[in-house]
Amino acid sequence: MTEHTVAVMGLGVRGKIHVNGIAENKGRYKIVGLCDNHKENMDLMKEKYSLDDVPCFADVEEMLKTTRPEVFVFATYPDLRLSMIELAIRYGVRAISLEKPMAESLQEAKTMKDLCAKNGIKAVVCHQQKYLSQMQALKKRIEDGEIGEITKIHVETQAWFSQLGTHYVDYMLWANGGYKAKWVCGHVHGPICLDDTHPAPDYLLGTCEMENGVHGYVECGYLSEAHNPPEYGSSDNRLTVYGTDGYVYAETDGFWGACTKATNGRLIKGKDPGWRNHQQVPIQTDYYRDFADWLDDDSKVHSCNIDTAYHGYEILEGMCLSALRNVRIDLPITDLDYEPVVEQMHRELPPCNSKKMFVYLGKTPHVERD
Ligand SMILES: NC(=O)c1ccc[n+]([C@@H]2O[C@H](COP(=O)([O-])OP(=O)(O)OC[C@H]3O[C@@H](n4cnc5c(N)ncnc54)[C@H](O)[C@@H]3O)[C@@H](O)[C@H]2O)c1
Repeated sequence: MTEHTVAVMGLGVRGKIHVNGIAENKGRYKIVGLCDNHKENMDLMKEKYSLDDVPCFADVEEMLKTTRPEVFVFATYPDLRLSMIELAIRYGVRAISLEKPMAESLQEAKTMKDLCAKNGIKAVVCHQQKYLSQMQALKKRIEDGEIGEITKIHVETQAWFSQLGTHYVDYMLWANGGYKAKWVCGHVHGPICLDDTHPAPDYLLGTCEMENGVHGYVECGYLSEAHNPPEYGSSDNRLTVYGTDGYVYAETDGFWGACTKATNGRLIKGKDPGWRNHQQVPIQTDYYRDFADWLDDDSKVHSCNIDTAYHGYEILEGMCLSALRNVRIDLPITDLDYEPVVEQMHRELPPCNSKKMFVYLGKTPHVERD
C-alpha cells in the first residue's frame, strides 16, 4: 500500500472532520501541510493528531508550492472551488477532495470536471452520507430484491438544494444503480436563499426520468414535508425508493423504514446514529478509505467521483432552467452559453414573503402569509 501525501486547506467545521477521516486511515495517508485563515484551527489539528512536524500556512498557494502534495483537500465555502482546482494543477496535484456543493454554476462545475479529466486528476466531492448505516441498509435491501424492481424515487430535503439537495440527488443516482437522467422538468420559487453563502431558490420541485425508466421526484426547500420533531429543523430529509414489491426510506438524521417482501408488507422503522454523530459513525473514514483504494487501483472508482457529482449538479441546474424557460430540459446540457441560473433567478424570482419561510430562517415575516 502506498502512503499518499496530503495537504488540507480550510480547517473549519468540515475540515476538522476531513482531517479525522484521513488520520483514521493509518498507513494510507501522510499529512504534509495544513492551511487556514485561523491559526488556532491549525494548532488544534496539530495537537489532536500529533502533527508537530507538519508545516502550517495562511496562504494556500504557498502550501502547495512548498509541500507539493499528491492529494489536495479543501473544505471551504462554495465560492472557493475552481480557483483551488487551477492552483492544484499548477502544483502537480494528482487527486482532489472537495466539499459540496461542487460549484455555484454548471459552467463552473463543467470547467472543474473537464480540468480534472484533462490533467488526470482523480477528484471526489464530499457526498459522504451514503456511508451512513441506514443508507447502506437501504441500498442492500434494494440489491437483495426486497422491493422488487425500482419504480420511482422521492427526494425530500427541508434545506434548499445547494445545502442538502446536491447530496440527495447523488444518493438518488446511487440507489438507482448509477443510471443517468435523460430529461428533467422543474419549478422554482423564492429568492431569499439566493443571497445565502449556498445560493439556491427557497424551494425547488423537479422530476426526471432515468435511463432505466425510473422516475425521480426532487423536493428541496421549506415546503418539503417535515417527517421528524421540530428539533431536527432544516436537516429534516428523506430518500424513499419505491419498487414493485414495497418501499424503503432512509434519512441522514438516522431514521429509516422498510415495507417490503421481507417484512411481509408491514412497515418496520428504526433509528441509527445520524450524520452528526461523527464519533459513532466514521463515515469520513470510509470515504477516505475508498479514496485511497481508488488512488491505488484505477478500477476502484469512488462513488463520490466528480463525474457523478457533476451529473447530480446538472440535474438540479436543469430543473432550474426548466422552470425559468418553461420547457423540458433534455440531458446532458450541451449548450452552456447562458447567463448563470443563480443570476437569472435573482432577476426573475418575485418576492415570496412566505411566513413559513421566514420562520424557518429565524426571521420576522414582512407579510402574514403561509
Ligand atoms: N459533506 C457534508 O456533510 C457537509 C456538511 C456541512 C457542510 N458542508 C460543506 O462544507 C463546506 C465548508 O463548510 P464549513 O462549515 O466547514 O465552513 P467553515 O466556515 O467552518 O470552514 C471553512 C474554513 O476555511 C477557512 N478558509 C476559508 N477561506 C480560506 C482561505 N482563502 N485560506 C485559508 N483558509 C480559508 C476558514 O478560515 C474556515 O476555517 C461548505 O461548502 C458546506 O456546504 C458539507
